Amino acid sequence: MSTTIVEAPAGKVADAQLPQADPCVIVIFGASGDLTRRKLMPALFHLVREGAMTGFQILGIGRDKLSDEEFRQRMLAGSQASDEMGPFSDDEWKHFAERIHYICGELVGGNLYRELGARLEDMAEAGASRNHLFYCATPPSLASNIIAGLGEAGLAKQEKGWARIIIEKPFGHDLESAQQLNAELAKVFKEDQVYRIDHYLGKDTVQNILVFRFGNSMFEPIWNRNYVEYVEITAAETLGVGTRAGYYEEAGALRDMVANHLLQLLTLTAMEPPVAFDANSVREEKVQVLRSIQPMTTEEVARRTVRGQYGAGSIDGAAVVAYRDEPNVNPSSTTETYAAVQFDIGNWRWAGVPFYVRAGKRLARSLTQIAVHLKRTPQALFARTPSDQIEPNVIVMRIHPDEGISVTFGAKRPGVEMHTGTVHMDFCYQSGFGVRSPAAYETLLVDAMQGDATLFTRRDEAEGQWRLITPILEAWSQQAAPEFPNYASGSEGPELADELLKRKGHQLGKIREPTEGCEEDRAPALLKSAR
Ligand code: BG6
Repeated sequence: MSTTIVEAPAGKVADAQLPQADPCVIVIFGASGDLTRRKLMPALFHLVREGAMTGFQILGIGRDKLSDEEFRQRMLAGSQASDEMGPFSDDEWKHFAERIHYICGELVGGNLYRELGARLEDMAEAGASRNHLFYCATPPSLASNIIAGLGEAGLAKQEKGWARIIIEKPFGHDLESAQQLNAELAKVFKEDQVYRIDHYLGKDTVQNILVFRFGNSMFEPIWNRNYVEYVEITAAETLGVGTRAGYYEEAGALRDMVANHLLQLLTLTAMEPPVAFDANSVREEKVQVLRSIQPMTTEEVARRTVRGQYGAGSIDGAAVVAYRDEPNVNPSSTTETYAAVQFDIGNWRWAGVPFYVRAGKRLARSLTQIAVHLKRTPQALFARTPSDQIEPNVIVMRIHPDEGISVTFGAKRPGVEMHTGTVHMDFCYQSGFGVRSPAAYETLLVDAMQGDATLFTRRDEAEGQWRLITPILEAWSQQAAPEFPNYASGSEGPELADELLKRKGHQLGKIREPTEGCEEDRAPALLKSAR
């Protein structure tokens, strides 16, 4: 969390400097899986290369029978294929890979956890740290077995060093399973040993929501129902389900994205200022937001939610198949690949301001952003012609791509007559600071190694999220699914989602329209975009 910025030599983009993590052994359960290869190993590699991790060892645990060397080769191939990795030298990889080890074992039954204990002891005697960071990069159904196994083997004890556990999302699959998983965790680990990860919180631009709101005095006074008309939170992807049908068929867009990532964005946007910038104060305020939202009745679910599933279409000019034709997907699947939900926060600050969140796969373009739409001015003073209508101000926090912030406002068009247009002011992360942001997993891994849980989900927060999502899942399972597919790949998503906003006179932002600012010639911003 305590990232600082290193000045880059002229013309170069520097890395943001990361703090030094405690020495430890990182034990990854699910080491032969996709997440380990594509995200965790590249993140650990960067941390080592940037000097944030010294005195570390990595111990992968998976079901495939592999030697240490075979496992290292597999990680190398996976990392090379990952878009998170970037160029690196053989020497850099060698330095990293020498510290990677592997155990083959079954997570359920068997002797794995005792064997792990013995291996950690051997490593400690050979000079490795006695701090242990356990990472559950497994499907959620296996987390219980891992927690119990670690407990029985005495590996959660903190006698000679610390022991912490990171649990990947989704945390359970509904409120009941999340409560059960929390109870199982509490039998073995204390809450301050538990790190429920949501990688969105590791993104610089997501953390920046707090700095933007609470580090500046000009936005907070208008951040409420007196000035804000509605808020739109979007996570659109061009990607389809890919090779993850096994997981996704059970999850769907609501569990996969809305229940965690989008509710995190919502709580950060809506929360009150915390009394301090520490784990409990920040998380307490986020939980208060979740508590201020009433779980929906079945009737409200019908009015305030829309689900969709992609059909065939084209993405970036290439034809793509329908969800039901993807490998390992049930040809009559009713799993949603798109979800839009209107959340109403019933507190003093936000009563009457709808928060519309939507997430979808195979949409027109990849875009993650929060758009805060302010109210119209009370008088249309400058409306000379219909095209002169000044649009209400919108503050957009762009999470991806073109990370940054833009504010739109009305301005006079150049000329003798009084005509108006909408212009925007832009802050672009990359050009603003000239540094490379650490990948989300880098930030979160260092935080866990440092014992800082601010960017992780607290027990009651995980349950608070499911308290809102479970009634929607239940209502959807009781109602007949819509005619799927109901949106074409490469489109804006189901048309019904527009209706959700239109009822209140609001408008769903177009995904296809390019983000203002960062990619274009940015100067002078004011004159450029009058339209
Ligand atoms: C993951 C979801 O948590 O987040 C994926 O399981 C999704 O389905 C991904 O594609 C999106 O993350 P990002 O960082 O690419 O926005």
